[in-house]
Amino acid sequence: MNAADSHARAASKSRILTGDTPTGRLHLGHWVGSAKRRVQLQHTHDCYFIVANYHAFTTRADKPKEIRGDSLEIVRDLIAMGIDPDLSTIFLQSEVPTIHELTFLFAMLLPFNRVLRNPTLKDEIKVKDLGETYSFGFPLYAVGQCADILSFRPEGVPVGEDQVPHLEMTREVARRFNHMYCGVNEKAEDHEHVQLGGVFPVPRAEVGEVGRLMGVDGKNKMSKSLGNAIFISDPPKEVEKKVMRIFTGRQSATEPGDVKNALFQYVEAFIPDAARVEELKDLYTRGDNIGDGHIKKEVAQAINTLLAPMQKRRAALEGRDDLVMDILRSGCRKANVTAEITLEAARKAAGLHFFARTLAYSADSKI
Ligand code: TRP
Repeated sequence: MNAADSHARAASKSRILTGDTPTGRLHLGHWVGSAKRRVQLQHTHDCYFIVANYHAFTTRADKPKEIRGDSLEIVRDLIAMGIDPDLSTIFLQSEVPTIHELTFLFAMLLPFNRVLRNPTLKDEIKVKDLGETYSFGFPLYAVGQCADILSFRPEGVPVGEDQVPHLEMTREVARRFNHMYCGVNEKAEDHEHVQLGGVFPVPRAEVGEVGRLMGVDGKNKMSKSLGNAIFISDPPKEVEKKVMRIFTGRQSATEPGDVKNALFQYVEAFIPDAARVEELKDLYTRGDNIGDGHIKKEVAQAINTLLAPMQKRRAALEGRDDLVMDILRSGCRKANVTAEITLEAARKAAGLHFFARTLAYSADSKI
């Protein structure tokens, strides 16, 4: 597709942005929480996917090599899951410097205490055991995320439930900016902001069908750091082993089970045949001679069927960093054009625009 075609197509579609912090390989929690929707949305929307590698520095500043490797790993996983780089724009946060200018501006629009009260940050401090020693940059990343999003002026942000507080902050910043610098009335409805002259739309959080997939420990949200994740790249045997670990506490095949448990979250998320799901639920509720082990086998099989084509696509990128870099190069080029247009508009609105400038940055230049 040539550039003019791609721009014409993009202009007629509503835009979404979402992304991931590179912390390792992606897992099924990412798939059900967000990626599955991304794959569908890329056919109907102008999609931007950010690899938030600067954010990875908030807790791992001492591990730049790992972060770099994880950033490429995420791109492989996204392609594996079905993101098509001809339809979607995948880019690196670190290659779009205008995001950080917007971060500074937004940091003035949010009370410090408001940022620290963000429940997702509080949760992370607890879960990651950051104590009192976290960096200044750690809470700043939440402000940065507002800029990640608003740099692209999207209408929707498909995310997992845990990101909703960040979206609330993003929406607040957009409203405040538009009110303070663009003369949009404080009482304007969210959907009217752009029409009324605001630089930023007030974007919606679009939470996926399973906002919070349980890990195979049956207790906590699926997460790499908790060791309870099934990865997109896990081989079939590994998937089986992990599914067998899902804890339910049920004692026998005749004990009536609770379909609200973790195992049935997997049944509902991964067994595609709705009639079979209903049948399993019915048998389980009545304790009609259906063991957890049997259900786990069906779940593992369904997951492996889902993962097989993903792993095939992933294998084609294994050892091919050149292909991954090509995808990122064209993604970063397009992302920079969009983000620069946004920053120009924001700088003008805030009286910060003295001279026209375009970045010397070029994704073609070698370093
Ligand atoms: N904080 C998100 C996560 O850890 C990643 C992220 C960074 C993001 N910037 C974003 C998600 C913008 C959505 C939109 O998963």
